[in-house]
Amino acid sequence: MITPVPGPLTQPIVDRDVRYLATGTKGSPVAVKWGRGVRFEDVDGNLYLDFTNGMVAGTGHCHPKVVKAIQEQAEKFLFFNGPDFYYEIQGLIAEQLCQLAPGAHDKKVFLSNSGAEANEAAIKLTRSGTNRKQFIAFLGAFHGRTMGALSLTGSKVVQRESFFPMLPGVTHLPFAYCYRCAYGMKEETCGMWCAHILEDLYFQRLIPAEEVAAVFMEPQQGEGGYVVPPKAFVQAIQAICRKYGILFVADEVQAGFGKTGRLFAIEHFDVVPDIINLGKAIASGLPLGATIFRSELDFPKQGRHSNTYGGNPIAVAAALATIEAIKEEKMLENARERGASFKEGLQRLQGEFEPIGDVRGLGLMLAIELVLDRESKIPAKEMRDKVIDLCCERGLLLLPCGTSAIRFTPAIVVTREEIDLGLEILRGAIRDAMKT
Ligand SMILES: Cc1ncc(COP(=O)(O)O)c(C=O)c1O
Repeated sequence: MITPVPGPLTQPIVDRDVRYLATGTKGSPVAVKWGRGVRFEDVDGNLYLDFTNGMVAGTGHCHPKVVKAIQEQAEKFLFFNGPDFYYEIQGLIAEQLCQLAPGAHDKKVFLSNSGAEANEAAIKLTRSGTNRKQFIAFLGAFHGRTMGALSLTGSKVVQRESFFPMLPGVTHLPFAYCYRCAYGMKEETCGMWCAHILEDLYFQRLIPAEEVAAVFMEPQQGEGGYVVPPKAFVQAIQAICRKYGILFVADEVQAGFGKTGRLFAIEHFDVVPDIINLGKAIASGLPLGATIFRSELDFPKQGRHSNTYGGNPIAVAAALATIEAIKEEKMLENARERGASFKEGLQRLQGEFEPIGDVRGLGLMLAIELVLDRESKIPAKEMRDKVIDLCCERGLLLLPCGTSAIRFTPAIVVTREEIDLGLEILRGAIRDAMKT
């Protein structure tokens, strides 16, 4: 690091952004000049490790195979009227996704531009495919910000306030967040009450099960805190879905495409969903969403659902190259191995620092949750923010999640040395944040 953060060349970029861009979710004042793998340089010449970008550019910044595929496609055609006519790579990516996704059933794909749009398509498919109108989602879930997807989102009030009314018929249940069980139970003895409550109470007192079209679930919650539910929870929810003819939708927009060490996060739970939604990492940073669904749910008529840019040729070329790179470079293995050693490193820090209340996550989708003390578990939000700021000043870019957690989602090409360096910076930042 050669300047303070923000540096003199970054500051005007931040200022212009604040002046002219709609208020969004921006955090650390960092402006990128170029990026490769998990490293990038900011406009002031500071070099960083990026432990945030893996959830989108899963193969790392500017993976050479992805860049080449984009360049080659850009030479051929940038856009062709995909909704109305044909080009080969749209069918090819859909075919590959159907073959790769869990389950031997026939599948089809709706291609879109974002995670929210993938969820919107799933809302329509499940409504029209079941002729039912209600949905179940979970507290802590993030499914996007368009009105349909937002109705399913239950992560933070700020995301919903002032936008009511939402889509009617969405009921949120507490998620299996065992570190902070909403029912005050212990995983060893709870019998997965947080799943069975759906059948035993909600379907008896509140919602007719036969009116529920779908349950939407993130196999590992993202924005809500990188919460991994027990396998028994996910399986119990799916069993209830099967019993009542309810569709199970896995929103893998954040957890999918390799980050958890499996191509699809739901594979960790031995559950075959009826629909899988993808976004973010699927095209290594280009806008692409995909809704992979049982063929029998397909829209019965031309014109019921479509869009302009979904499956645009540049993003699709990037997605095909992404799949190839993940396979050829054994990135899933890397996510598993590097993820395991990263998690061990975080657990060592937990042994050293009282405020690390919980270490969790699958593969390279990891988090620590900071608390004032381990007994009360009061979220240490200020300390969490301080740690992120200190890491940023020292060249490690991080993002928060949940109430007081920090997420670590480096690209799945990250090396052992990069993880060790990241852990060292994190260690110093927690130590110093505890002094203030
Ligand atoms: C699980 C999940 N679903 C959906 C979305 C929405 O995706 P997008 O921002 O591309 O609309 C996100 C974004 O963070 C997400 O994490």
